[in-house]
Amino acid sequence: MRVPRLRPKTYRAITFASLVSLAAIVVTGALVRLTDSGLGCSDWPRCNDDKIIDVSSTHAAVEQINRLFTGVVSLAVILAVAGSLIRSPRRKDLTWLSLSLVIGVIGQAVVGGIVVLTHLNPIAVQQHFLLSMVILAAAAVLHRRATLLDGERWVRAVEPGTMRLVWLVAALTALAIVTGTVTTGTGPHSGMHKGEYVRRFGFEISSVARVHSSAVILTVLAALWLVWRVRGRSDRLRLENAISTVLVVALTQGAVGYLQYFNGVPVVLVALHVGFATTLWLSVVYLLVATRSVVAGEQPLPSDEAGELSADVVEV
Ligand code: HEM
Repeated sequence: MRVPRLRPKTYRAITFASLVSLAAIVVTGALVRLTDSGLGCSDWPRCNDDKIIDVSSTHAAVEQINRLFTGVVSLAVILAVAGSLIRSPRRKDLTWLSLSLVIGVIGQAVVGGIVVLTHLNPIAVQQHFLLSMVILAAAAVLHRRATLLDGERWVRAVEPGTMRLVWLVAALTALAIVTGTVTTGTGPHSGMHKGEYVRRFGFEISSVARVHSSAVILTVLAALWLVWRVRGRSDRLRLENAISTVLVVALTQGAVGYLQYFNGVPVVLVALHVGFATTLWLSVVYLLVATRSVVAGEQPLPSDEAGELSADVVEV
């Protein structure tokens, strides 16, 4: 029997579908929590005893949209692994990265189970969100690597000082996200169980929000430092778009953050905040990728193009 072969272009489309669905499920998952729709359906895979699909209540509709995305995500990551095996030619990096998505999604199912069993314990809810960010980063890298032509590879192509600052921006963004999840676990949106608000971190909300917004301010300052650092250097050309995206998304997200905080965290703004947190995280991953340049397999590593930069070019 002949094994079907997949064209690289088709494989890229599959990795894109994985990335988009993994990003979308972060928001639909948050909507389930924000609207207390976790028990919107009493049965599985049917929504309830009467209907397979039931959109007669908002809770049921939100829960089913999330279930739909769970199905789409599972299918997309399984197709990413299967596709990497029949892609012509097969590439180990794509197989390993797509496998990490499947492992991540299985991990999410386990953490999701723990969330339910612990009646929405804030630590479990927090881990659920953070694991999503790890899987998303892997999905973004997979999609970018799938756009490499066969035989091409990534090499680091910015100065060491620039690279250190890019890592600082990434680390501070991660800190902003982690402190954000602590803020959620402290605030009113940790979810409900049997009509009762669930247990939450016992911090003072204003103190937690202050720590969270301080991490955000540090992130923006680090991004501005990066802008200052690359000016007049060839790193600027390479990173300009990526840094601008990070800054615009971070500032928009900051504005949404303050707006929701001073307006009693309305559901729509909190959902938008989750969406922008996801977008910011992806733009930081793309900033990291932008520090790499693509070379053909046998081609020598790129050296200083402008003659004025001693780029730190390291194989990755
Ligand atoms: C770079 C900017 C920011 C990022 C990346 C970020 C990220 C996050 C994340 C990941 C969450 C948790 C979402 C969840 O678990 O569902 C969150 C929650 C929160 N953030 Fe931010 N945030 C930013 C800016 C801000 C700012 C400037 C404020 C203003 C005080 C703010 C206020 C809040 C509040 C009040 C919550 C809890 C909302 C709730 O009750 O669910 N955020 N943030």
